[in-house]
Amino acid sequence: MTQPLRIGLAGLGTVGVGVIRIVQDHAEMLRARAGRPIEITAVSARSRHRDRGVALAAYAWEDDPVALARRDDVDLVIEVMGGENGPAKATTKTALENGKHVVTANKAMMARHGHELAELAEKNGVALRFEAAVAGGIPVVKALSEGLAANAITRVLGVLNGTCNYILTEMERTGAAYGKVLEDAQRLGYAEADPTFDVGGFDAAQKLALLTSLAFNTRVDYDNLTIEGIERVSLADIEHAAELGYRIKLLGVTQVENGAVESRMQPCLVPAESLLGEIEGVTNMVVIEGDSVGRIILAGPGAGEGPTASAIMGDVIDVAWGLILPVFGHPAAALAPSNPSKTSSRAAYYLRFLLTDAPGTLAKVATALGEAGISINRMRQVQHSEGGAPVLILTHETDRSALDGALARIAGFEACLETPVAIRIEDV
Ligand SMILES: NC(=O)c1ccc[n+]([C@@H]2O[C@H](COP(=O)([O-])OP(=O)(O)OC[C@H]3O[C@@H](n4cnc5c(N)ncnc54)[C@H](OP(=O)(O)O)[C@@H]3O)[C@@H](O)[C@H]2O)c1
Repeated sequence: MTQPLRIGLAGLGTVGVGVIRIVQDHAEMLRARAGRPIEITAVSARSRHRDRGVALAAYAWEDDPVALARRDDVDLVIEVMGGENGPAKATTKTALENGKHVVTANKAMMARHGHELAELAEKNGVALRFEAAVAGGIPVVKALSEGLAANAITRVLGVLNGTCNYILTEMERTGAAYGKVLEDAQRLGYAEADPTFDVGGFDAAQKLALLTSLAFNTRVDYDNLTIEGIERVSLADIEHAAELGYRIKLLGVTQVENGAVESRMQPCLVPAESLLGEIEGVTNMVVIEGDSVGRIILAGPGAGEGPTASAIMGDVIDVAWGLILPVFGHPAAALAPSNPSKTSSRAAYYLRFLLTDAPGTLAKVATALGEAGISINRMRQVQHSEGGAPVLILTHETDRSALDGALARIAGFEACLETPVAIRIEDV
């Protein structure tokens, strides 16, 4: 096959420019690896005359990305504009309806509309691929949908947001509070001016929703995920966790129990010496457990121009060879509706209480936990000067509902000076 694969590139920001650099710098390598030339024929962005540091003169310009998706000289649209709806969705739909393949990095769109778009792609016999939407440069979509396709997946867990991991590791490294580290991260370009999407856990949760669908052959179901961000993780908890041999990570976990899917994105304690505990800075890590393979661990850059463009071009090369697989590993019509679990699985917890320094207080807390069926694994009273005595407790495995009941009771004690903190300890 010597016909070139002709690309329409919608979006010329960080990722779009990264795609152009790969196509321009590695034309010969791509031709060899794809079995035919890969050429960009048309591009689209909002500002036509902005200098983007790459040569664009050879490409046709479209102000409207939807028009780009209709062009006769485009076989495949790369959608790297972003946004759940708006031009990204309109462009993707138009391309698929017009028989063009789509490669996208857009987790927001895929988490919200992935099922509808997968149906459309499959109906039109074209590919819709989204490797770059999950964990940037790490080829985890391919791993789940192709390399591990012969496994019943039991669990997927991962650190999926570099901004959050950077903030948490910097808090531990420097001893600075959340707000100060966030400000530094914004100055260094690791966090957006409005960081809510990252620090609130939403970006990582969108990726987890996509991984869940791939792992368990269910329709993407972003709405039923448990999502908790890192905004309330205190330096005190990071330091106490470290003393106890743990690190706090924003961890995504998806697993099936009794036919129900439990997907959670929340700060968790993991052993400091585990692989997940050891990842630092903006690195992402995904752990996949399958019945035949056991455990697979993938780590690498979860964002950035080069890594994200690398994932996009991997998808493009597959399409160039004519590989058109079901979007979520199973034909869209065969994906089961998600069956979200109503409760979270049993786990051990890290608890922190601030109690009055009076005889009998600790015993009262231990009794309240015991009466809820929660047994204590380790307990430590932290050095203090005034303003209450911090107490740390690591529980044995317990139900979250039993724990919530006990904590509500303890919070009502006069001797309890602050709302108790509870952080899940994930078995990794
Ligand atoms: N950056 C990363 O590291 C990364 C990693 C993984 C996934 N992603 C995903 O990749 C996508 C792109 O991210 P990015 O960082 O490259 O974003 P970006 O730097 O903000 O670039 C967005 C591009 O889309 C263009 N655009 C926006 N609205 C448009 C419209 N209505 N018509 C035509 N063009 C339009 C913008 O044009 P102008 O330049 O003219 O404004 C810009 O070139 C997002 O879905 C993001 O979630 C990014």
